[in-house]
Amino acid sequence: MNPRTALVTGGTGGIGSAIVRNLARQGHKVATNYRDATKAEAWRASMAAEGIEVCMVPGDVADPVSAEAMVRAVEQQCGTVEILVNNAGITRDTTFHKMDYQQWTEVVNTNLNACFNVTRPVIEGMRTRRWGRIVQISSINGQKGQYGQANYAAAKAGMHGFTISLAQENAKFGVTVNTVSPGYVATDMVMAVPEEVREKIVAQIPIGRLGKPEEIAHAVAFLTADEASWITGANLAINGGHYMGW
Ligand code: CAA
Repeated sequence: MNPRTALVTGGTGGIGSAIVRNLARQGHKVATNYRDATKAEAWRASMAAEGIEVCMVPGDVADPVSAEAMVRAVEQQCGTVEILVNNAGITRDTTFHKMDYQQWTEVVNTNLNACFNVTRPVIEGMRTRRWGRIVQISSINGQKGQYGQANYAAAKAGMHGFTISLAQENAKFGVTVNTVSPGYVATDMVMAVPEEVREKIVAQIPIGRLGKPEEIAHAVAFLTADEASWITGANLAINGGHYMGW
């Protein structure tokens, strides 16, 4: 395994933490961004207690200026970004007839526009060095839609459109671009869904339980490995059988 520098956006969250942990344990140098310095410090200390040192930089992925500054800070502190995981994401669930413009734009900016904001400053370096791995963390709900998530489903579906275009443009430069689409994973985001709604959702999952963040991180590690050099433009669904589109 060649040690690389990896940037995982939203690394302090549920799935993000598992991705950071997995990549770090393989010997990669891992960076993530934060917006709240106090929370970030507590998270950094808990990772350090596990023996994982994370390079932490301030930055808001929804803002192009902040995102570019974040990438430059990672480059200075940890090295050029060779693996990028666009993982940061938020929900503002409500049925569309009640949705306001802010709920729409916050979700589209953080989940989809962030892919432009963070990937644009790293892509030229990856092409020049003839090696790169980019993974979008999308969602089952970008594939199947979800009652109450017109904003989120639109943004998450857009992420895979981004993946398959970038995959074509960068294939001959040794840069692979893939999507991972998690189903319902036991994170704060999913636990915020009202319990009675969540129970109905879990009842639709053939494997019969929520996913574990480590089960998503495992797929990201697979797709970002040197050996995954012939996988590009794929959308890997990891959802306990909840949605089996092909
Ligand atoms: N299909 C059909 N009808 C549905 C439905 C569904 N899937 N879900 C709810 N409804 C119906 C209800 O039965 C109810 O019907 P009645 O009025 O006839 O009783 C009605 O919709 C409720 O509609 P309201 O607009 O009043 O609902 P609300 O404002 O109280 O809440 C909601 C709506 C916010 C969407 C709530 O149902 C909810 O939180 N749903 C879960 C959304 C979800 O799955 N979010 C995922 C978050 S985690 C994540 O996003 C991670 C990931 O990638 C998977």
